[in-house]
Amino acid sequence: MYAPKIDKFFNTAGPGIPEDHYLLDPLRRIDYDEVRVLINQKRYFVLHAPRQTGKTTSLLAMVKRINDEGIYNCVYVNVESAQTARNDVTTGVKTILSRLESAIKRILALSIPDIESIRNKDEGGSMLIEALESFCARHDKPLVLFFDEIDSLVGDTLVSVLRQLRDAYTNRPRFAPISVILCGVRDIRDYRIHRSDGEIITGGSCFNIKAKSLRLGDFSKSDVRELYLQHTEATGQTFEDDIYQKVWELTRGQPWLVNALANQATWEMLGGRNRNNSITLDIMEEAANQLIISRATHLDQLADKLKEPRVRSVLEAVIAGDNWTVKPLQDDIEYVIDLGLLRNEDSDYIISNGVYREVLPRELSWVMQVGMTSQPKQLRYVEQDGKINIKRLLREFQQFFRENSESWLERFDYKEAGFQLLLQAFLQRIVNGGGTINREYALGRGRVDLLIRWRYPKNVARENQTEQRVLLELKTIIEKKSIDRVLSEGLEQTERYAGQSNSTEVHLIICDERRGKKWNEKIYERSEKVGDFEINIWGI
Ligand SMILES: Nc1ncnc2c1ncn2[C@@H]1O[C@H](COP(=O)(O)OP(=O)(O)O)[C@@H](O)[C@H]1O
Ligand SMILES: [Mg+2]
Repeated sequence: MYAPKIDKFFNTAGPGIPEDHYLLDPLRRIDYDEVRVLINQKRYFVLHAPRQTGKTTSLLAMVKRINDEGIYNCVYVNVESAQTARNDVTTGVKTILSRLESAIKRILALSIPDIESIRNKDEGGSMLIEALESFCARHDKPLVLFFDEIDSLVGDTLVSVLRQLRDAYTNRPRFAPISVILCGVRDIRDYRIHRSDGEIITGGSCFNIKAKSLRLGDFSKSDVRELYLQHTEATGQTFEDDIYQKVWELTRGQPWLVNALANQATWEMLGGRNRNNSITLDIMEEAANQLIISRATHLDQLADKLKEPRVRSVLEAVIAGDNWTVKPLQDDIEYVIDLGLLRNEDSDYIISNGVYREVLPRELSWVMQVGMTSQPKQLRYVEQDGKINIKRLLREFQQFFRENSESWLERFDYKEAGFQLLLQAFLQRIVNGGGTINREYALGRGRVDLLIRWRYPKNVARENQTEQRVLLELKTIIEKKSIDRVLSEGLEQTERYAGQSNSTEVHLIICDERRGKKWNEKIYERSEKVGDFEINIWGI
């Protein structure tokens, strides 16, 4: 079939195709030499990484390479379509079998002998192993099998597939695949599988093979440059040097995000489409804003994860600083790390990158934002000169919080981060009018920093605008903590961060969550000079 040759572009949908997309060598990313050794050693192993990291891209490149080398037969099967079978093993395995059959036909132009009679026995528990045996016995070249999206399988179907592979392992290479790679988000050995009989078992116990796990990492800083340079070479359009630090903060090398930002800047934004315009820091920042607001699929899928209670509880604890009452389980933290939402830095857990740091709290507070539509609009806070009047805003928030917090926090079931999220939801509606909030929080860091950046006046060229930089430092007082300590700690942290972030205005907001306190005691407003800064202190 003839497909027209097109200009390459930054891919944001599905695996990369070398003819169509700017691409880093997928075999280098995965360390093909190591994989090759594992295959030669006849291993069954796991390759895992968060969503949209490049797993499928790399697997497909390997299939091609292995078949080109000619020593092995190699097939790739995406098992996702068996997901719906859940505990119906026969239906699930039958689905996988027909995917396997068509992959063998499509990739190798071969077939599985006796497939019809194997299928007709209707034995989900042995169908897969029999089909593999039938294929391997017939062909001299050993078979290398890739199962992608393995963690889309659940329950009894997953258990059965893992057991059949484990049994196949003992028959390799003559009557079973010489090597199997299971690819997914988590290390299969960490799974807890809920069986239909109510028992919970681990993936490790059914895939009981001394297997190795490879984790595909994110891009390095030089990877990002290399990818962007491919665009410069193809089109002549340059990226200014100072964008790279920004792109790094925003993405930390997450492959989809790196592509999506560049795509936004060089294609979705009209100015960037003109190849004579070089991509500046301003364009990149705007691209990031647009991407966050656009709720692109990848970001949407992440947000979807917040429906899982354990993901939500971990992230709320992170957003609350160290003020949680129930510490999240280590197991749940590991899970959220595997999903790519958190990472470990200097023994703190922080949200993985700048874009996720914006998206996740927005999502967590989304219901609140929607419920706030009856609240005053942005205009009320914008002064004649275009600046935001933060003090007026915070006074309104105090009042809002006094009137609504109890019913809201109960209604939305925010166990830990209610106050922080409610304030963010309140601010979000203001900022939706054109500012940004940079957020910083970490499990264990004991505070939440929000830096609101607002350019004014509106409707003039960017270079003629001034940037208002407002630091909000959030602290909470919980039972058994002394108010004096929280205050002195808060003032010191606020001053330090105000200096680092070059803020023009500084606020420390202290939420008193101790039971039995009267609103009249809790709500106050005053200011104190610390170092170079006049710090406004708000009690809530
Ligand atoms: N080798 C690569 N070079 C550049 N970008 C890549 C590469 N591999 C993946 N990506 C980016 O990651 C996205 C997801 O790739 P994919 O292989 O589907 O990941 P996964 O299977 O891990 O979900 C692609 O849409 C692209 O933006
Ligand atoms: Mg994939």
